[in-house]
Amino acid sequence: MNEVSKSLVVAIDGPASSGKSTTAKLVAQRLGFMYLDTGAMYRAVALKIYRSGIELTDRKALQELLEHTVVEQVSNSDGVHFLLDGEDVSEGIRTPEISLWVGPVSEHALIREKLVAWQREIGKRGGIVADGRDIGTVVFPDAGVKVYLSADPHVRALRRQKELTARGIIQSVEEVEQALVARDQRDSSREHSPLRKASDAVEIDTTHLTIGDQVDRVLALVKKHGSIATAK
Ligand code: CDP
Repeated sequence: MNEVSKSLVVAIDGPASSGKSTTAKLVAQRLGFMYLDTGAMYRAVALKIYRSGIELTDRKALQELLEHTVVEQVSNSDGVHFLLDGEDVSEGIRTPEISLWVGPVSEHALIREKLVAWQREIGKRGGIVADGRDIGTVVFPDAGVKVYLSADPHVRALRRQKELTARGIIQSVEEVEQALVARDQRDSSREHSPLRKASDAVEIDTTHLTIGDQVDRVLALVKKHGSIATAK
């Protein structure tokens, strides 16, 4: 795919466990782009707030905490890792507790402002595949390729349950589905940057797709964008 512009931004949004991060990671790999997991950033900040015990209503304490927080995404031979103030929290941010805690944290305007600024700073260089809830609508509204991944909630719950089981966390599929649906509802109805499909995003329903299919569909959109850009 040599016609792909090195400054391209690929934005992938969608509800929990719709396949965003797996797809984004593989698309980035195929394009030689950087993958940016914005959900992990919200999760890392949620973990820090959870540990600190500060109240989300305590604006001053929150501001102070954010000023002294460094979230980094690093890649090495065994994959993508997340560092919170230098500590590897890649596992710790994926627990059901943090999935619950991240809801109110990501609703907070102060936190969103800070994280969106970090994300835009990283995105400046282009050559990036970013996934989240507001990437195509708020963070990178000019992204060249915008995708909205969706999938049946039960299928998403089965995927998340499998992921949790692999990490030794046992939950029934009903419990997992209930938590996913509640989080989607919260993410879609919040005041700041709610989860929604950008008007110019292409929706891909992954319910019956394999990961390979999802990746191919996104790459086809990238290719199409490349040929349009070249023809201009
Ligand atoms: O992996 P999963 O799809 O379950 O979620 P995630 O991408 O790790 O995101 C965790 C949570 O962070 C979401 O439920 C949102 O509340 C929040 N988030 C957000 O508000 N904006 C983003 N751009 C990314 C995540």
